Amino acid sequence: MREFRITGSETQKSIVLCGDGALDGATGDFVFTDGNVLRLYKDWIADTFSGRPVYAMPAGEEYKTPQTLFALLERMAGAGLTRKSTLVCLGGGVVGDIGGLASALYMRGIGCVQIPTTLLAQVDSSVGGKTAVDFCGVKNLVGAFKQPDRVLADARFLKTLPPRELRCGLGEIVKHAALDGKLFDTLAANASRLTELGFLAELVPENIAIKAEVVQKDAKESGLRQCLNLGHTTGHAFELTDGALSHGEYVLIGIALEAELAKGRTKCDVGYLEELQSLAMRALGGMPALPSAARAAELARLDKKNHTSAAVVVTAPVSKGEYALLEIPFADYCAELAAIQEKLC
Ligand code: NAD
Ligand code: GLY
Repeated sequence: MREFRITGSETQKSIVLCGDGALDGATGDFVFTDGNVLRLYKDWIADTFSGRPVYAMPAGEEYKTPQTLFALLERMAGAGLTRKSTLVCLGGGVVGDIGGLASALYMRGIGCVQIPTTLLAQVDSSVGGKTAVDFCGVKNLVGAFKQPDRVLADARFLKTLPPRELRCGLGEIVKHAALDGKLFDTLAANASRLTELGFLAELVPENIAIKAEVVQKDAKESGLRQCLNLGHTTGHAFELTDGALSHGEYVLIGIALEAELAKGRTKCDVGYLEELQSLAMRALGGMPALPSAARAAELARLDKKNHTSAAVVVTAPVSKGEYALLEIPFADYCAELAAIQEKLC
């Protein structure tokens, strides 16, 4: 078992346990999950959290809403949780983000244990304390930073994931690889194994280490943590446009498109960017047809990372292990995105 510690202020510290035995100390007062996870792990939940109330939201990003958040808070209040209580979030990134936010809001903050059950949640979303719901058509518009007390990541959950959900996790793994040369080399050397469960499960600790190191240095995203948005500005924009694919798949698309944006405007290693693009496309299983770039660009204009509506901020890969923050005038972003889409899709 591996252990990572994210230390900050007293209220912002977190322990991440990963591997066999991580679940040994799983405890909590209320279990929040979704319908799929409840169906698959009903017996394990009953054995592990015997007698604790369980609330399962309907599965899916479309339910990552204030309504679901308040439905959960209502049940937490109904169960009589106190300031000393701990909420367990058992599920993927949607459950983790909503449950994390509920734990930040209920009585101004109670305990939170994240038990991530998707690859994406294990390598990324359960670690680092970003919590949110989508609102007014903008992803993660309403949220809070709230470090979970514990993250317990066990590969046993990954065995029931549909192959497509593995690809979603791969989106964030390729993002980490764009920030970390060693992980990039591992993926490049194993490009034919990108959808193999055993290979992906082995990558979980390394990905947690990459993310934990960034969060340890900049928990509230005042600087360095912006690197974790790589691929996300454009990815989120397309995700909001049609939502036909999953978050991780849009991240892969975002990485491929933003690598192309970088080529024209920063000192970059074009050969490396092309390798990264082909890794992202391989992980995607080919570039899908995408909806209108103009609509996506309009949505990217609303991204909360932008400083003004006149320019879109993109965290773009530039060379192995390096990224750059690009502030692209909106008209240029719009025109280039359309041209890139024409070229890659
Ligand atoms: P998800 O939570 O919707 O899970 C995907 C699907 O897998 C769901 O249908 C779920 O029911 C099912 N599932 C979960 N565990 C399973 C298991 N073990 N076996 C079988 N099925 C299982 O989506 P996700 O991809 O895990 O997370 C995406 C969300 O994470 C997005 O909302 C995104 O914004 C968020 N996110 C947050 C952060 C962060 O730092 N907080 C980082 C990345 C992504
Ligand atoms: N997933 C981006 C972050 O945690 O900062």
